[in-house]
Amino acid sequence: MSKYTDVKIAFIGGSGLYRLDTLKPVDEIEPETPWGKPSAKIVICETASGNHVAFLARHGTGHHLNPSEVPARANIAALKSIGVEVIIAFSAVGSLREEIKPRDFILPSQIIDRTKGIRPSTFFEKGCAAHIAFGEPFNKDLADIIYSQKNTLQGENVEMHRDKCLICMEGPAFSTRAESNMYRMVGGDIINMSVLPEAKLAMEAEIAYQMICMATDYDSWRVSEEVVTVETVVANLNANTSNANQLAVNILPALEEALYENKVELPRVKALKGSMRFAS
Ligand code: ADE
Repeated sequence: MSKYTDVKIAFIGGSGLYRLDTLKPVDEIEPETPWGKPSAKIVICETASGNHVAFLARHGTGHHLNPSEVPARANIAALKSIGVEVIIAFSAVGSLREEIKPRDFILPSQIIDRTKGIRPSTFFEKGCAAHIAFGEPFNKDLADIIYSQKNTLQGENVEMHRDKCLICMEGPAFSTRAESNMYRMVGGDIINMSVLPEAKLAMEAEIAYQMICMATDYDSWRVSEEVVTVETVVANLNANTSNANQLAVNILPALEEALYENKVELPRVKALKGSMRFAS
């Protein structure tokens, strides 16, 4: 049993976001779960109001795990074990649309799964059948709170888009141009390698989940653009990091009011509690 049981809010950082500089770290824990240890130590941080929130680096603090290797079940189980009810997950993405520019932030509302089925993606196996509703993979109450802070993003022409469709591919190689065009044709707006199975497992764990995507490149559909290189992705990633840090602190007061102070109700967050009872 962890010494923390009431850490209701967690941030997961993706490529380029290995800690949140705007929050005060007060402890580090590494819970052992039935699915092993999480990607990295979970950093417990104290907010300006004195509440505890958690931060977890999805790829490890030194980015040693590629998307196919992330121990997503251990990550979600470890966060659940300390009381997490809400996850705000950051991820670098490629843009499949002209109007979504590198360095823009995007709140997806849908996912198309293009992973290869090699990632363990459920807590329910070996004689235990359960079927979660996954028609709405993200939490609109959380998206509303995040979107209300869109004007705090810094940088020329940097925008926040919402209600976009996120393609999740296996990687680690990026897409071919033909694949990238196909994803545009089926309605994809952005692409990453990390939202699955994380979002599914959060739903199974009755944790409200919203991903904040940060565009780093135009993927390979855009012929006029240079091919996607790791260098371009990393340069834009670094530029996105300070906006991510700032956004995290900016959304915290509204989240804390709802989760720690019970001043506001988030009906779609509340509705998740006990939802798995009807899943089998
Ligand atoms: N993450 C960042 N850019 C990406 C891209 N173009 N494809 C898949 N994942 C990405």
